[in-house]
Amino acid sequence: MRVLVIGSGGREHALCRALAASPLLSKLWCAPGNAGTASVAENLPIGVLDIADLVQFARRNAVDLVLPGPEAPLVAGIADAMAAAGIACCGPSAAAARIEGSKAFTKEICDAAGIPTALWERFDDPDSAREFVRRRGAPIVVKADGLAAGKGVVVAASVAEAEAAITAFMETDLLGEAGRAVVIEECLVGEEVSLFALCDGTTALPLGAAQDHKRVGDGDTGPNTGGMGACSPPPALSPALAEAAMERIIRPALAELARQGTPFRGILFAGLMMTDEGPKLIEFNARFGDPECQALLLRLRSDLLPALLAACDGELAQFSLRWRDEVSIAVVLAARGYPGDPLKGTEIRGLDRAAAVPGVTVFHAATQLLDGRLVASGGRVLTVCATGADLHAARDAAYRAVAAIDWPEGFCRRDIGWRGLAAG
Ligand code: AMP
Ligand code: GLY
Repeated sequence: MRVLVIGSGGREHALCRALAASPLLSKLWCAPGNAGTASVAENLPIGVLDIADLVQFARRNAVDLVLPGPEAPLVAGIADAMAAAGIACCGPSAAAARIEGSKAFTKEICDAAGIPTALWERFDDPDSAREFVRRRGAPIVVKADGLAAGKGVVVAASVAEAEAAITAFMETDLLGEAGRAVVIEECLVGEEVSLFALCDGTTALPLGAAQDHKRVGDGDTGPNTGGMGACSPPPALSPALAEAAMERIIRPALAELARQGTPFRGILFAGLMMTDEGPKLIEFNARFGDPECQALLLRLRSDLLPALLAACDGELAQFSLRWRDEVSIAVVLAARGYPGDPLKGTEIRGLDRAAAVPGVTVFHAATQLLDGRLVASGGRVLTVCATGADLHAARDAAYRAVAAIDWPEGFCRRDIGWRGLAAG
């Protein structure tokens, strides 16, 4: 099998590493990749949104499977373009990827399929949106309808804050097209977890769950990020609750998308709030989470590649995956300044010592090799992961590895896994 992974983060390094371990693999490329993917795949200088170039490369090089990591190429139609060229792509069509690209579309799917989620309303007109917020009161959640790279959601503690968000999204250029319409919804209370399933259009195979740590600071403080760490399985989601969420949230969504003529193939990611009334959907994504993917794949015992092929072939009903009975943790090392403007070009040393800690795997994200030196080239730079018999063991190993890394310009959260550790 000749496989092309698309993306350049820690998620894609973890995917490349898992695929490289498959006895079915003969050649692996990553576009554009990072210094970590270069050790297990051949990096290609093609951007994730250069879809015509990616299709041309895949065709000329007889690629058997394309695996897009991030959402942008999916929403832009990479799966459709690969399908038109006769190349298997483990990701949804642009039509099915709207489940991530449009909040209103997701809410319509929820209503049509009876999926538990926050009560909501969509607005194209800022005056009506403000009027609704004044009528409903706070706390209340304001979301830009389109993709906004994590900047499109405000959980407003007051009516004034909600009104300011409506103005910023709809009446300034802050988010462009993504902010033309807003979804306003009820504020849910509980712990958040991420649940993943591999889908072939009709069957959903559980891929496990993880808990992300979205705020930049310890104790879940400070601005939102793409994710500063994860642990898997998440202590708040028992196996019984995970199965309930598969049954009430993932499978009905898959069935509804198929009913509408836009079957979902690829990785479906449900962001859940664990409320007193059970798991409720916050959002769907059309891909793996980062850093959740790194934490999940370390627990996967089975070969990932045949599972991805089965998803493309519509054959998941006959498939099962085996998982390690271990806990994993992922600690993101970010460059100072993240999630604002990160410091770039600083040198990182000591990764060999970190990777030598038992149970530890270090994934690269924004890294580059420059004249034999490893340097940071973006915000989230490394994901230091560890597995262990329990959360304490995994946490201790991961932070021992972090301590072995010599990178004064980097930082990480010190409390990844804290909810599970606090719960004992
Ligand atoms: P989203 O982009 O939809 O995942 O929203 C980003 C974050 O906002 C989520 O991870 C939650 O922390 C928060 N959030 C979104 N919707 C709600 C809601 N209805 N109630 C409470 N928090 C929410
Ligand atoms: N870590 C959350 C995400 O990938 O969206």
